Amino acid sequence: MHAQETHCRHFLKLTDLGPAEAKALIARAIELKRRHKAGEDHRPLAHRTLAMIFEKSSTRTRVSFEAGMTQLGGHAIFLSARDTQLGRGEPIEDSARVISRMVDAVMIRTFDQATVERFAAHSQVPVINGLTDYLHPCQLLADLQTFVEHRGDIRGKRVTWIGDGNNMCHSFMEAAQLFDFELRVACPQGYEPDAGLLAACGNRCSILHDPIEAASGAHLVATDVWASMGQEEEQARRLAAFTPFQVTDAVMASAATDALFMHCLPAHRGEEVAASVIDGPQSVVWDEAENRLHAQKALLELLINPPR
Ligand code: CP
Ligand code: NVA
Repeated sequence: MHAQETHCRHFLKLTDLGPAEAKALIARAIELKRRHKAGEDHRPLAHRTLAMIFEKSSTRTRVSFEAGMTQLGGHAIFLSARDTQLGRGEPIEDSARVISRMVDAVMIRTFDQATVERFAAHSQVPVINGLTDYLHPCQLLADLQTFVEHRGDIRGKRVTWIGDGNNMCHSFMEAAQLFDFELRVACPQGYEPDAGLLAACGNRCSILHDPIEAASGAHLVATDVWASMGQEEEQARRLAAFTPFQVTDAVMASAATDALFMHCLPAHRGEEVAASVIDGPQSVVWDEAENRLHAQKALLELLINPPR
């Protein structure tokens, strides 16, 4: 039992996948999307259960994992910290030991990255990071799928991240390593991404403080909210610092003519992105949101039913 606890495969960060494996997973997501749209039944996870623990709000992550498990023939259980013993102080390690004896995989959305790591260390089944303050790897699977669908291979392309050096930015930095693209980050002073992660990216990632310059020649421009979940009381201070970092038509005009715009959503029009950009012809945000479903189905297949 103990060996199982320690040798189980998890998805806590994007780089838990190898480069070839990540590429294959994106291809599999595209294939699963095609099969789903063709009305094909594909139920490799019959009678399997995914537990979903949410310590923060969610629309896309919850709906995509729940619908995905249904489509794969399995079932998902929504667990909010408020209604479980986790919210009343039951240790994360004990919760992991108990929940993982009853289900086939666990998805967690929480604050500290250390929480998903502690859970995984005591889980008998795969654990998936559904967003922490540090990373949002599931979103990047969908983003990469979306880029490949619209533009083909992302290797060697230029991606510009504009805004906060937050969980999404960190996952883009991991994606740059895994998929071998150039990442330019444009953020206000004091809101830079994690220095250790930056060092791990080597010359693939650079930090700038001018969004127009950073977007120059980019094939993809992406952004996110200025105050993430848990930072609500910093809202006013952040608004002042981030106002020059809105993704405007001028920023998009600096990018390559066929540049795509992405946002993990939820979005605030008139803050991090102009309505004309997110609702304009270069925006692929709805495909991006839909692809959460297909990419995570490929992930669930890989983790719960690994190929032999
Ligand atoms: N993009 C994303 O993770 O959305 P939710 O917060 O709605 O799950
Ligand atoms: N950075 C945002 C992403 C939401 C999907 C947050 O953590 O709230």
